[in-house]
Amino acid sequence: MTAAQVKKRKGGEPLVCLTAYDAPTAGVLDPHCDILLGGDSVGMVVHGLPSTVGVTLEMMSLHGQAVMRGARSAMVVIDMPFGSYEGAPQVAFDNACRLLKETGAAAVKLESGRYAAETIAFLVERGVAVMAHVGLRPQAVNVTGGFKAQGRTAEERAQVMAEAESAAMAGAFAMVVEGVDEGLARELTEAVDIPTIGIGASAACDGQVLVTHDMLGLFDWTPKFVRRYADMKSVMEDAAARFAADVRGRHFPGPAEVYTLKRTE
Ligand code: KIV
Repeated sequence: MTAAQVKKRKGGEPLVCLTAYDAPTAGVLDPHCDILLGGDSVGMVVHGLPSTVGVTLEMMSLHGQAVMRGARSAMVVIDMPFGSYEGAPQVAFDNACRLLKETGAAAVKLESGRYAAETIAFLVERGVAVMAHVGLRPQAVNVTGGFKAQGRTAEERAQVMAEAESAAMAGAFAMVVEGVDEGLARELTEAVDIPTIGIGASAACDGQVLVTHDMLGLFDWTPKFVRRYADMKSVMEDAAARFAADVRGRHFPGPAEVYTLKRTE
């Protein structure tokens, strides 16, 4: 999957995207996905941070490298972390190049307020494929005051539309649309000529993305828009409890799990 192929899917078969942060998970998800997103949600779901603000370029590079080792045919997109692209287009370009060179991923994603259009154009003109991210922008949590759906007022809706239109005009090949209602998602999807990939943004988008740990059921709490396709927390708890009982009861390891070496002397 390339950025050009993703772009051509506008209005066609819905794009399937899941987050991945490590090689084995990427390997399992890859055959089912068009896009694997090395999301900065890694900071929250893997590193236990309270938001994505603390995520660094080093973290994105290391997790991105791991994802690339597990991916086969899905397009891998890596998030640019907070502070790595907002200051100036040249800074964004240097950091995007670092992520693409170190990971081998095909594109970067950046949360795109209206200010970001200039940066997106700067990157795309210089050969960096960019996925935009509009609506609820988790990296802006310290300004917005929480992970709140966007578009409650006419002004907010106009702002999200402006973010989306300016990102598409600037050359983004696709955009994540997070935390908006169905009406705005539909309006926005009709307004731009690139695929919209929704998360908490209804089925009116050109594709869907979920945080893998959420859809696998690894957490007790998940946002309203998540559908759980597994109960991995219970599976892990059960496995850990049975292992502990076997060790404490001296049932593990058993004869089949012990080396029997042929002694040479
Ligand atoms: O980092 C991430 O997981 C994301 C998704 C919420 C789209 O950006």
